[in-house]
Amino acid sequence: MILIDGVQASAVAVTDRGLQYGDGVFETCAVRDRRIEYWPEHVARLQAGCERLGFPAPHADLLRAEAERVLEDVEGRAVLKIIVTRGSGGRGYRPPRMPEPRRILSVYPFPEYPPRFATQGVVLHACRTAAVEHPALVGIKHLNRLPQVLARAEWDHPGIPEGLMCDTDGRPVEGTQSNLFVVQDGVLHTPDLSRVGVAGIIRARVLAMAGDLGLPYRIENLPPNVLDRVDEVFVCNSVIGIWPVIALESRRWPVGPLTRQLQTALEAERSCRVG
Ligand SMILES: Cc1ncc(COP(=O)(O)O)c(C=O)c1O
Repeated sequence: MILIDGVQASAVAVTDRGLQYGDGVFETCAVRDRRIEYWPEHVARLQAGCERLGFPAPHADLLRAEAERVLEDVEGRAVLKIIVTRGSGGRGYRPPRMPEPRRILSVYPFPEYPPRFATQGVVLHACRTAAVEHPALVGIKHLNRLPQVLARAEWDHPGIPEGLMCDTDGRPVEGTQSNLFVVQDGVLHTPDLSRVGVAGIIRARVLAMAGDLGLPYRIENLPPNVLDRVDEVFVCNSVIGIWPVIALESRRWPVGPLTRQLQTALEAERSCRVG
């Protein structure tokens, strides 16, 4: 089922600014038996994104009610996608003074990744397409995803599920659809997202769990050649959880103990943080 502004439908107006300009935000949420993992976090990021783009966010209760309707017949695991655009109107790029944001909620089957991606780790493609820096857009999950689309078009290999994107200075930033962590000498590092990247919900949870477990961590710009000297690498997002990374070009890593510890903690938390 697809709900557009609360009405069952399958088509959106061609005048929608999400279609015309990518003028909107979205969330991709993992669902278990109609319960949504990390719902408060998803709603908070969606609302922060609307605020950053300068249009009113839909009320959390309204989104919740629509999410429940769209998930009515869903069994087991699924993916809920919520898109909020600035709606239609305005003149060219100029936004309308009184926007009427549009809500689009849809459900997809949970992707059937081979279980070995989580257990034995994944190989990453080294993307040539750079992650685009834009201070006004950093952190939020806005609809302009062309760098990720171009990066994901660079390879087509079922055994390589993710690619690493760097900024224009060659610093590793994130995956095409995930955040990046590395472990060096027992310290967890993840790129600072003040210039580029999506502030992932699982990234925030991993950092919180590292704090709870007493694991030292740093949030910082990673140097371009950092991957030559790290001991563990993993990527994470709301759907995949944590995937250990075992190879990128000529580099190889084992599935390390910190990655495993955080993966176990996250899987335990994910099944509880549903609402
Ligand atoms: C570019 C990008 N970075 C990071 C993430 C991870 O975000 P989250 O943990 O909120 O799923 C995503 C998720 O789709 C993404 O598209």
